Amino acid sequence: MALRKMDNPVINLKTSESSREKREKMPFSLYKKQKKTEKRKAIFREVPKKEKILEFPDGFLWGTSTSAYQIEGNIRNDWSIWEKSYKRINNLQKNGKNIKDFTAGQACDSYNRYSEDFDLALALNNNIVRFGIEWSRIEPKIGTWSVKEIQHYHNVFKAAKERGLKTVVTLWHWTNPIWLSRINGWTNPETVKHFLNYTNLIIKEYGSYIDYWITLNEPMIHTFNGYVIGKFPPGDKNIIKGYKVLNNLAQAHNQAYKLIHKHFPKARVGFTKLRNYFEPANRWNPVEQIISRTMNFFSNELFINKTKKYLDFVGIDYYFHDRIVWYPPFIKNKNIEVTDTGWEIYPEGIYHVLKSLQKLKKPIIIMENGIADQEDKYREVFIKEHLYYIHKAIQEGVPVKGYLYWSLLDNFEWSLGWEPKFGLFSVDRETFKRRPRPSAFKYADICKNNKVSVVI
Ligand code: FCB
Repeated sequence: MALRKMDNPVINLKTSESSREKREKMPFSLYKKQKKTEKRKAIFREVPKKEKILEFPDGFLWGTSTSAYQIEGNIRNDWSIWEKSYKRINNLQKNGKNIKDFTAGQACDSYNRYSEDFDLALALNNNIVRFGIEWSRIEPKIGTWSVKEIQHYHNVFKAAKERGLKTVVTLWHWTNPIWLSRINGWTNPETVKHFLNYTNLIIKEYGSYIDYWITLNEPMIHTFNGYVIGKFPPGDKNIIKGYKVLNNLAQAHNQAYKLIHKHFPKARVGFTKLRNYFEPANRWNPVEQIISRTMNFFSNELFINKTKKYLDFVGIDYYFHDRIVWYPPFIKNKNIEVTDTGWEIYPEGIYHVLKSLQKLKKPIIIMENGIADQEDKYREVFIKEHLYYIHKAIQEGVPVKGYLYWSLLDNFEWSLGWEPKFGLFSVDRETFKRRPRPSAFKYADICKNNKVSVVI
């Protein structure tokens, strides 16, 4: 299926078309220069000078990422309970927010539209798709497997394979079955055992369909948001519990790794890690150096250190960097260009992240990189700039094997609800109709040609 421009109302809009045309005709360097003058501030980046085509290695993986809770719809788990909790509702109402905008509900209805979603991935010329399995569907009660839901995911896998797509499958993307949260979730060491039972079922049912296994998505974020700052369920603020959770998650990964390899010795098993780039605002300031290193240790290194013997590849999610200053609150970004979520656009950070992982000597796949950009003003350049830095890292010997954009669709963005629009495709909240944003066509070209044109 090819992307049909006529389907895209955004493309037909005069204003968006004209600014787009302006940008396309303008060499990358000029565009950036103009942006700089407009803002009257220098952007701390390498400045492109002349056009160059950057080719990616043969067999490079090009894809898009999603997760079960964010797109499937009608799931009952600890998140859906949390969304309805008095504390959360009260908080949203106090801030004048509409509860509906912060409830996953029917999400993107991908539970029923997975075939259509895979067609969209094909239209983007993706050769790989990342999606999740929802544990609470498969095991709605402790030790009870749902025949209906097991069959459902068989259908999902078949639909992906019929289309010739490689699969990256996430077994756990932050959400827990309700029965598991009732026995204290990941603070309870028994949870490791439950996770292994669930993994065992996945191995038996779907093992042969899975090209890349992601046992856990961003374990540090679950731990920090759920147990240190209380922003995610279960809403705790207790570092000791957080520490237990982290150790149990590490155990779960390491043991699941062994289990998967017992059945599929050639399996490629990893997890995804949000990799943040911390840099001192002033390289010569020893206090800023120490703070950056400490943050880097806790945020980036700790979990990898506990699991690195059990990794076939490193799955990286990169969104932003943090510029560290010596005074509270210790993070002060320049924020010259920010996304709709207020995250500073900082593509060169991905280069530093990749270089810092070179020592692991493992294949690396960018499992998430994306931008909340409802108007699609920055997305195309955002993707290209990140690819420029990824390519640079590859040239210097970093074994990056693939890039998956987050996300195929606009979806339910956790505590931020429906406001951020990360999708290459927008989704109508009433009809669930998917429409390509202009940048989708650009990404489709990149994936098709295995190259990106930038001006350097
Ligand atoms: C990542 C999450 C993903 C999505 C993106 C924006 O940290 O793994 O589910 O929320 O951020």
